[in-house]
Amino acid sequence: MVRTAVLVSGGGTNLEALLAAEEHGLMPSVHIDLVVADREAYALERARNHGRKGVLIDRKALGMRRFSEKLMETLRENGIQLVILAGFLSILPQSVVDGYRDRIINIHPSLIPSFCGKGFYGLKVHEAALERGVRITGATVHLVNEIPDGGRILIQKAVEVREGDTPEVLQKRVMEEAEWKILPEAAEMIAEEIENESR
Ligand code: GAR
Repeated sequence: MVRTAVLVSGGGTNLEALLAAEEHGLMPSVHIDLVVADREAYALERARNHGRKGVLIDRKALGMRRFSEKLMETLRENGIQLVILAGFLSILPQSVVDGYRDRIINIHPSLIPSFCGKGFYGLKVHEAALERGVRITGATVHLVNEIPDGGRILIQKAVEVREGDTPEVLQKRVMEEAEWKILPEAAEMIAEEIENESR
């Protein structure tokens, strides 16, 4: 099994979906060994509730340089092979992008290239989609490189926008119908690649 870290900043519903998928045998190649938060986050409690190691590496308190060093050190110390960004709001340090080339995936709550890149995260993405009046939105899992939301697309899933949707209602539908499904699927896909390479 591939030793995996999930990086979070918030509520952690995607983390919960990953833990459930692993525990129900839907990601046989993935083992979540570590959850890292860059700020106080409820996701850390979810990790502990599932008996997983949860670590807070506080970006604001440490400053970017120490944060980057500490994050890389923690991933290495735990023998992490695959990194999943699940609602992680910090820019990932270059050392991590370099050290885990093609081994970092991110979930984004739109159909990239729509509503993505700098400044588009969380509810802002759904506000922008509603503002533009799109009838279809969705979620994307992609590999992470130095361009925000710019790495190779792995899986996308479309979700309908309905009359009267608020950003909150749309966010919930995108999570339920797309994010919580395609993130475990993509994690398993990359983990299988890693396992095949080391055979
Ligand atoms: C999710 O909708 C995720 O796609 C989004 O933040 C939310 C985190 O929710 N990520 C981004 O916008 C990244 N650009 P969660 O903490 O409940 O998983």
